[in-house]
Amino acid sequence: MCGIVGYIGPREAYPIIITGLKRQEYRGYDSTGVALINNEGLQVYKKKGKVSELENALLGKPLSAHIGIGHTRWATHGEPSDVNAHPHESNSGKLAIIHNGIIENYALIKQDLQKKGYTFKSETDTEVLVNFIEDIQKNTQCPLEEAVRMAMKRVAGAYVILLLDVDHPDTIIAARKGSPLVIGIGKGEHFLGSDATPMLEYTKEVVYVNDYEIAIIKADELVLKNLGNEKQTPYIISLDMELAAIEKGGFDHFMLKEINEQPSTIYDCLRGRLDAKAGTITMKGIEDNIHALTSAKRIIIIACGTSWHAGLEAEYIIEELCRIPVEVEYASEFRYRNPVINKDDVIIAISQSGETADTIVAIEKAKEHGAFIFGIVNVVGSSISRISNAGAYTHAGPEIGVASTKAFTAQLAVLMMIALKIGKEKGTLELKRYMELLNELENIPEKVQSILRNADALKPIASKYKNAINALYLGRGYNFPIALEGALKLKEISYIHAEGYPAAEMKHGPIALVDNQLPVIFVATHDEYHSKIVSNIQEIKARKGKVIAIITEGDAIIPSMADDVFFVPPANELVAPLLSVVPLQLLSYYIGVDKGCDVDKPRNLAKSVTVE
Ligand code: AGP
Repeated sequence: MCGIVGYIGPREAYPIIITGLKRQEYRGYDSTGVALINNEGLQVYKKKGKVSELENALLGKPLSAHIGIGHTRWATHGEPSDVNAHPHESNSGKLAIIHNGIIENYALIKQDLQKKGYTFKSETDTEVLVNFIEDIQKNTQCPLEEAVRMAMKRVAGAYVILLLDVDHPDTIIAARKGSPLVIGIGKGEHFLGSDATPMLEYTKEVVYVNDYEIAIIKADELVLKNLGNEKQTPYIISLDMELAAIEKGGFDHFMLKEINEQPSTIYDCLRGRLDAKAGTITMKGIEDNIHALTSAKRIIIIACGTSWHAGLEAEYIIEELCRIPVEVEYASEFRYRNPVINKDDVIIAISQSGETADTIVAIEKAKEHGAFIFGIVNVVGSSISRISNAGAYTHAGPEIGVASTKAFTAQLAVLMMIALKIGKEKGTLELKRYMELLNELENIPEKVQSILRNADALKPIASKYKNAINALYLGRGYNFPIALEGALKLKEISYIHAEGYPAAEMKHGPIALVDNQLPVIFVATHDEYHSKIVSNIQEIKARKGKVIAIITEGDAIIPSMADDVFFVPPANELVAPLLSVVPLQLLSYYIGVDKGCDVDKPRNLAKSVTVE
C-alpha cells in the first residue's frame, strides 16, 4: 500500500504535495518522492526515508510549479532505496510516473522492453510500466492517454498511476484498477490522493475513480473515460469526514481498520502464490531452497510475541504435514542460552517489523553455527529480510496499530503455504488432502469477511466482561496457539491480565483460579478434540466460571453450556485458526475501547521492539 498525491491549478503544487504525503505516510513510509513540471522542465526528486527527510533535502531546489505528483512507498518489488523510490522516469526522460499496486506480469513486459533496448535503473514494476507506456506511444504515435489505455488493458494486477508528460505540462493522467484514487474538485484546480487527506482543507467535493477508469485532469477540466474510451460521468460526493477519520479509512482506530483489512490482506498474501485450481503454490524463496527445507533434520522457529504464536501454530502444522521436528523458541531466550544448533538445521525467523532486536541477534547466533535462515517478514527491505538466506514477505501492508492483527493472519497464511509445499514435495502429504487444504485456504478471505459482518455480536460480550480482573483463554491442538494469541491481545489492549493455556492443562493447577468472576474464553472450533473441549467447559461451569466460546456454526452442544458464544464458519481444523483469531482480536478491541484504553498505542508498548 503506497500513498499518492497530485495537484494541478493556480496554487504552488509542492507545498500541497509534501503536506499530502505526510498525511498519507501511514500508507507507506520507506521512501518518497515528487515530480514537478516548471520552467526548468520535469523535476524529479526522490529518496529513501520519510517525507520530512525528502523535504529537508529539497530546501533551495527550484520547486515552484503548478502541476506535480508525489508518492510515499511501501516496498513490494525492490527494497527501499533512492533508486527504487517513486516517481520513475521513462527512458526518454519525458514521462514521470507514480504507482500504488502491483503489476503481476511486469517481468515479461520488462524482458520485451529490454530486447527493444530499454534500460532500467530500478528493480520496480513501476519503472517497467512507464517505459511500457512510452513504448506504446512511440510505436503508435498516439496521444498519451491512448497509450495509457492500451497499456492498462495489457497489464495484470492492481494499480493506481499518476503520470506527467513534460510535453503536456497542463495535464495529469491517472488510471485505476484495484487501488484507491480520489480526485478533489476545486475552482480551476484539481487535487488527487489515495484518500482525501491531501485535499480536505481545499475542497470536500470529491470523485472516487472506479476500476478500469482513466482520468485526464487539467486545472479547469476533468474527463473520465473507461478502457473502451467512452466518457464516464464523474460522480461527485461531498465529504463529511475529518482528516483523522480518513487516515483510518473511516474506522475509529487503526487496529479496527487493520482487523477489517484481513480479508484483503490474506488475499494479497495468497495472491500470485496459491492456485487451488492448478494445485500449485509458487514461492521462489521455497523453490530455490527446496532441498535444504525438505531434507532438514529439524526446523527451529524463532520469534517474539504474536509472531511467536504464529511460530507455535506452524509447529503443529509443519509436523503434521511435513513430519519434520519443529522447535519454537522465544528469540530473547534463544540468543542468551547456549542452544544446540546444527548446520543442517533450518531456522525460520518470523517478524512483522523485521527489526526486532532479540530476533535479529538470535538469527546472527544461528548463522554463526551455519544454519540456513528463512525469514518471514512484513516490511520489505527490513533488517531481518536482508540478513536471512531466503524468505517470504507477508504483504499485509503497513500495520500501524501496535497490537498485531493482520500481520499475524498473514504470517499464518504464509506458514500454511510453506508447510503444504514442503509436505507435498516430501511426499508426506498425499495429493487429495493437499488439494483439499489448498481449497480451504483459498476460501479463507471470504469466511473472514463473513465473521467481520457479524462483529457487532461481540460488543455485548465485551461490555459484559470489560471489568474482569483476570481471564483465561483455553484451546487444544491447532487452537492452543490461538488461545495464547487471544490472551496477549486482551492483555496489551485492555490491560486485563489474561493467560492462554492448553485446555487439558487446566487440571494441573490453573483450575484453582476458577470462580464466578473469572471469564474463560474457549477457542473451540470443531475438530477432533471437540468432545474433550466440551468436558473442559463442563469442568469450568461446575466451578461457576463464566464461559465464552468461539465455536463453529452448527455446533449443537456448546451453546447450551456456555454463557456466551460467537460462531465462525466451518473450515478444516488446520486453517481454522485464521478464522478463530478474528473474534478474539475484535473482543480485545471492543473491551479496550469500552475501558477507554488507547487501543492503537497501548501504554508501555512500541510497535517494533528494536531494543534488547
Ligand atoms: C503483538 O501484538 C505485539 N505488538 C508484539 O508482541 C509483537 O508481536 C512482537 O514485538 C514481535 O514483533 P515483530 O513481529 O515485529 O518481530
